[in-house]
Amino acid sequence: TAAPTLSISLHPSATPVSVERRAELLLDPGFGRVFTDHMVTAQYADGGWRDAQLRPYGPLSLEPATAVMHYAQEIFEGLKAYRQPDGGTALFRPDRNAARFRYSAQRLAMAPLPEQLFLDSVRVLVEQDRAWVPTFPEGSLYLRPFMFANEQFLGVRPALQYFYGLIASPVGAYFPRGVKPVNLWLSTDRVRAVPGGTGDAKTGGNYAASLMAQAEATEAGCDQVVFVDAVERRWVEELGGMNIFFVFDDGAGGRRLATPPLTGSLLAGITRDSLLTLAADHGHPVEERPVSVEEWRGSAADGSLVEVFACGTAAVITPIGRVRSRDGEFVIADGEAGPVTMALRQALLDIQYGKAPDKHNWMHRV
Ligand code: PLP
Ligand code: COI
Repeated sequence: TAAPTLSISLHPSATPVSVERRAELLLDPGFGRVFTDHMVTAQYADGGWRDAQLRPYGPLSLEPATAVMHYAQEIFEGLKAYRQPDGGTALFRPDRNAARFRYSAQRLAMAPLPEQLFLDSVRVLVEQDRAWVPTFPEGSLYLRPFMFANEQFLGVRPALQYFYGLIASPVGAYFPRGVKPVNLWLSTDRVRAVPGGTGDAKTGGNYAASLMAQAEATEAGCDQVVFVDAVERRWVEELGGMNIFFVFDDGAGGRRLATPPLTGSLLAGITRDSLLTLAADHGHPVEERPVSVEEWRGSAADGSLVEVFACGTAAVITPIGRVRSRDGEFVIADGEAGPVTMALRQALLDIQYGKAPDKHNWMHRV
């Protein structure tokens, strides 16, 4: 028999944001700046999860000795609720986020959150704050589950107490320029993750480790960093917050796709996984295989590489126009968004917004 699931007690806000103010905030929320009226929290202590509640969004109070602030036991997730044609809402593959959250917890030696509690928390928060799900094109409610060690202890060992939180943020496009191609900075001096490290866990430290390279990218006039493997500094892995796909001309007028394999040092993106399926649905052979920087540069130069795009929950599918490094710059085709990129992007969005049949049972109504 399944373990009983912890029920979430409801303590809705007595002072939610006014309808007028919410409408104003929803006009142009940007990404990750506006938060809804509520959050869900739970606490792990004495070997179990307890005290799950939906309550008003608000500050947390932490003592200076809280373990996460010293040794960084922290993980998070990112998923979205999408407005449906009938006015309802639906989540995209939340079971995958629940499973990845569990994996990340295990990798960081943290107490895993039961997947059912993860899913219940998302459902309860979306139900409560449904009015915050944007209705404008490509708007969504970005959900951010997170967990950290909140035991007060300075010894170095896995903590015995953890805090789980879930907050929600109405969002528009992650990149302010919309689907305009982004330019990448190829970072070979700095790496994001190493073999045997935490690269395939969604832990804050990976993002902290990526920020210096991201700052170098900005300084070099680029939008995002692309990381290579730590050992040979040769194999393309992913961007700071997105996976990457390459689209090749197959020499017979068709298109074949490639994306780096899950070696353990890159995140197993749920968008990446979905695109492996969608690309096949669109008749494109797709391979998970190593792609080297030399192949990337060479195939861009000889014209056999026709498109490159990045993908993730926040970024959806974003075309990549140019790649710059210490050795110079190269352009992918004409530097504009390509047809395979745009067709897959539309196919994914159509499923997420309930405009196309959900053949793979990816959508979960809330
Ligand atoms: N890679 C990294 C480092 C990320 O942070 C993300 C975003 O979550 C992704 C890839 C894409 O993952 P997903 O498609 O599950 O959002
Ligand atoms: C997401 O896509 O959910 C991420 O976590 C990536 C981050 C750049 C916002």
